[in-house]
Amino acid sequence: MNLKGKSAIVTGGGRGLGKAVALILAKEGVNIGITGRNEENLKATVEELKGLGVQAAYAIFSMDKEAAVQAGIAALAKDLGGVDILINNAGIGDFGSIEEMSSETWEQVIKTNLFGVYYAAKAVYPFLKEKGAGDIVNVASTAGLKGGPNMSAYAASKAAVVSLSQSMMAEWRKQNIRVITLTPSTIASDMSIQGGLTDGNPETVLQPEDFAEWVRDILKMNRRALIANGSIFSTNP
Ligand SMILES: NC(=O)c1ccc[n+]([C@@H]2O[C@H](COP(=O)([O-])OP(=O)(O)OC[C@H]3O[C@@H](n4cnc5c(N)ncnc54)[C@H](OP(=O)(O)O)[C@@H]3O)[C@@H](O)[C@H]2O)c1
Repeated sequence: MNLKGKSAIVTGGGRGLGKAVALILAKEGVNIGITGRNEENLKATVEELKGLGVQAAYAIFSMDKEAAVQAGIAALAKDLGGVDILINNAGIGDFGSIEEMSSETWEQVIKTNLFGVYYAAKAVYPFLKEKGAGDIVNVASTAGLKGGPNMSAYAASKAAVVSLSQSMMAEWRKQNIRVITLTPSTIASDMSIQGGLTDGNPETVLQPEDFAEWVRDILKMNRRALIANGSIFSTNP
């Protein structure tokens, strides 16, 4: 499928995996709205996106605040003249043992990673419905398929995203909306390197560009085809 002329919102598009997806979709001719909290990153990324010849805009909001998510998505939809694709990517990785992590931090991880995905999808849905078709890519994690030590909040948030996303898929495919649940393993980024999950060695470890190519290729499939779930791993990290 040709993606040229479509409009995509990428949450967390100012850095990491989200930025790589925004750039690769822009290379396909997709107009892009990115979101996040860090205006400097968002501004710089919007300039890069415009340099690729597409429309680009940003909205600043925190994923855990529903009213702000709604307002930000509506503003981007207006700037872009509608929305065809949501890359529901923003998230935080806070790692630590159950007894040491504060309840406030635990709750914040769930609020950002789970409620944020729910708020953004709910805010975008009317725009996709209006167009009669669309795509939502929910970025979960292999941590959502199996918990492990020092990741209770993160793994629980991502397990819930997997389940939420499956429910969205079942409800919204009737409106020709493809809801895609992705469960990537470790990819070199601020989150994984600062969290001590990987050294990010580009010779062996997945890079954001690998993730972006995967997302692009899934979106380019004929609309009759829906990749409902998928995982990606480094071959031999
Ligand atoms: N890297 C991995 O190994 C890996 C593996 C599996 C899944 N994932 C998932 O992939 C997604 C992207 O991760 P990444 O590796 O690119 O992480 P990252 O480099 O830490 O980037 C996180 C992104 O999310 C945004 N964000 C975080 N908290 C936010 C909040 N409260 N409100 C609004 N935006 C917020 C950040 O934007 P601002 O800084 O502007 O707020 C940033 O753009 C996450 O959902 C993560 O869980 C990552």
